Amino acid sequence: MQNGHFGSALVTGNSSGLGLGVTRVLLERGANVYGMSRRGCPEAGVSGDEQVDLSDFTATQTAMERLLEGVESLDLVVLNAGLLGHMQRMQDAPMDELRLLMDVNTFANKVILDALLKHRVRVGQIIAISSGASVSGHAGWSGYSLSKAALNMMMQLYAHEFPEETAINAFAPGLVDTAMQDYLCEEADRESFPVLQRLKAARGTQDMPGPEDAARAILDVLPRLHQTTRGSFVDIRQL
Ligand SMILES: NC(=O)c1ccc[n+]([C@@H]2O[C@H](COP(=O)([O-])OP(=O)(O)OC[C@H]3O[C@@H](n4cnc5c(N)ncnc54)[C@H](OP(=O)(O)O)[C@@H]3O)[C@@H](O)[C@H]2O)c1
Repeated sequence: MQNGHFGSALVTGNSSGLGLGVTRVLLERGANVYGMSRRGCPEAGVSGDEQVDLSDFTATQTAMERLLEGVESLDLVVLNAGLLGHMQRMQDAPMDELRLLMDVNTFANKVILDALLKHRVRVGQIIAISSGASVSGHAGWSGYSLSKAALNMMMQLYAHEFPEETAINAFAPGLVDTAMQDYLCEEADRESFPVLQRLKAARGTQDMPGPEDAARAILDVLPRLHQTTRGSFVDIRQL
């Protein structure tokens, strides 16, 4: 890896939004890119793509086995796939929704990381896409905040288990104009959850870039992220 250029990468959630943006920019920069999502990646140039529901851990494990066939090293792993759920009070959050958020946003990443360890894939840098909501504790983020906070801790724990040379962080990418923001800016209840007003105001401005611009900014700061404490949570706005 040099100056945000990577030879090979695995990106989860490559069918839309940030994951698709990262995939496109990596392809543009000449990388071999592997990925997974339910809908599949619309880019023809990817080296491997698995259509899998990450809440199905057995299917995810099988998809990883197939993707990793013949892969001995990856310069970059972006654990990006994520689900927002509904903006709601904790007391209104159905248990089933909370469980699904934990499964997709946190535990599916355990299946992926375990497969990398099991197959002894040499990995240069792992970033788990987290969120400011993992630490802010604002009203309404319920299961999303819980699952991203758990993801932060999970990366800290895995930092002890991957070799020293693998950089590993939970990483908040800042605001990105994706389908997730369609819900947050248009449908969710801004009266009950005033933090949403800030998102609505940022949409259409440089404070909320589109997926490919955001991807370029993220890939370009990864060398700096590499220098931070292994396992830590870092917000792009701190770098
Ligand atoms: N947008 C923002 O402002 C923002 C800010 C902070 C953090 N993030 C984080 O950035 C990441 C990407 O989100 P986004 O904004 O790009 O949203 P998005 O456009 O909704 O993309 C989410 C991606 O995750 C995949 N995914 C969701 N559930 C899945 C499942 N059960 N199995 C497999 N793949 C699944 C989706 O693929 P399929 O639907 O095809 O399965 C899609 O590719 C998420 O982790 C999110 O929490 C976003």
